[in-house]
Amino acid sequence: MPEAGYQVPAAARWLGSGLLGIALLLFPWSLALEVSVGKATTITAVNGSDVLLPCTFSTCMGFENLHFWWTFNSTEEYKNLLDGTVKNEKSEPKIRSNIDPRIELAGSVKEKKNNISILIHFLEFSDKGKYTCRVKNPKEKNAQHEATISLIVVEKLVEVDNTVTIIIVSVVGGLIGFLIVFMLIKKFITFIIKKTQEKKKECLVNSSGNDNTENGMAGSKAEQKATPKL
Ligand SMILES: *[C@@H]1O[C@H](CO)[C@@H](O)[C@H](O)[C@H]1NC(C)=O
Ligand SMILES: *[C@@H]1O[C@H](CO)[C@@H](O)[C@H](O)[C@H]1NC(C)=O
Ligand SMILES: *[C@@H]1O[C@H](CO)[C@@H](O)[C@H](O)[C@H]1NC(C)=O
Repeated sequence: MPEAGYQVPAAARWLGSGLLGIALLLFPWSLALEVSVGKATTITAVNGSDVLLPCTFSTCMGFENLHFWWTFNSTEEYKNLLDGTVKNEKSEPKIRSNIDPRIELAGSVKEKKNNISILIHFLEFSDKGKYTCRVKNPKEKNAQHEATISLIVVEKLVEVDNTVTIIIVSVVGGLIGFLIVFMLIKKFITFIIKKTQEKKKECLVNSSGNDNTENGMAGSKAEQKATPKL
């Protein structure tokens, strides 16, 4: 019996590693390195402020002399921003060139963070555009990976209009409140009706009981009257 319990996970594991093996054979580099800018693909920031453009990479096969660089693409221009290398998992990224003093490499590769985010100081309206972080790993035949993030620079952040949400919440809340009150009233009315019916029943029982006792008493009286006669 316990054998049956072990057979299924073992089979699943074999199937899983088999599929992974096939995937690795068919797409050897697709699983090797990934570049990510996180969930948000658009960042909105206020001019004059500092903004962090996140980028991390993950690799399951390790890296050596990894090359990374950031590019900027706007309607006006396309340029390389910052460029550097990371020797291995144990070393910090080294910047080779950085054309903009307002840009700073943030994050670290140590502790498996693989973080090559950049920080832009004193945002200007002309910073609006697409920022792409790119990674090239010689260990995987120099395959290149990239992720893009859009930056929007605004004069001031507009507060999110919550009116619709508030209306929906109020309506739903109101409906739930109404339902609760309705249920309470229904319960109360049912209770009253039940009580009135019980009272009516009690009256009926009482009156019939009275009737019975009267009859019985009358009958017994008659009997009682009859007994002394004997
Ligand atoms: C942002 O830009 C506006 C318009 O150019 C300007 O008035 C404002 O001072 C700027 N804010 C900062 C923090 O630089
Ligand atoms: C820059 O962005 C535009 C618009 O998305 C695109 O057509 C163009 O190919 C990009 N340039 C480069 C060099 O990637
Ligand atoms: C990358 O490093 C920056 C600066 O230290 C940090 O703010 C950010 O959260 C890090 N991102 C990740 C995904 O760890």
